[in-house]
Amino acid sequence: MKKDNRKYQSNLDFKLMTFFFKIRDLFRDPMEKVKNAEIKPGNVVVDYGCGPGSHAVAAAQIVGSSGKVHAIDIHPLALQKVKKKAEKKGLDNIETIKTDCKIQLEDNSIDIITCFDVIHELDDLTEHLKEFHRILKLNALLAVDDHHLSESDIVSLITQNNWFEFIKSNQNVYIFKKI
Ligand SMILES: C[S@@+](CC[C@H](N)C(=O)[O-])C[C@H]1O[C@@H](n2cnc3c(N)ncnc32)[C@H](O)[C@@H]1O
Repeated sequence: MKKDNRKYQSNLDFKLMTFFFKIRDLFRDPMEKVKNAEIKPGNVVVDYGCGPGSHAVAAAQIVGSSGKVHAIDIHPLALQKVKKKAEKKGLDNIETIKTDCKIQLEDNSIDIITCFDVIHELDDLTEHLKEFHRILKLNALLAVDDHHLSESDIVSLITQNNWFEFIKSNQNVYIFKKI
């Protein structure tokens, strides 16, 4: 098996991306995107490919103390950034997990997975979808956005194995239900 660091961006690339996301977040409020993903107070959320954590932090603010956010990424700097942001905001309902696919979470334990701007980077999407399907509760939601892909590409990629049904889109956030 290959080591999971085969897919890391360099630290410099990650830092540049983080800087770019700071600018992006000034124009596109991460809270709006998280609301479009239909996250509710009390939800247990996975933010897969969380990057520096804009959406994981917004999600943690929505789910509140009765919910939880698992911020997951392959890159160690992502997890460091998320931890720092959570600390700064006084949020104790975010946990970080480092992985390139397999997720150390129980079967049927998650209400919503958000996957923002990540799908185009995954070369083993089927393996990821299988894992998402495993950890989601029945009828729970997978919310995807990816400006690198068209709506029809996103829908066909996510529904290709008949593990997810397309429900609707909220301003370029595509909502799927586990079936
Ligand atoms: C373009 S960034 C998006 C970050 C964040 N979702 C956002 O929208 O601000 C993509 C992220 O996915 C992560 N990533 C790429 N491949 C991954 C994999 N196989 N498993 C987990 N994370 C991955 C990268 O490290 C990076 O942080």
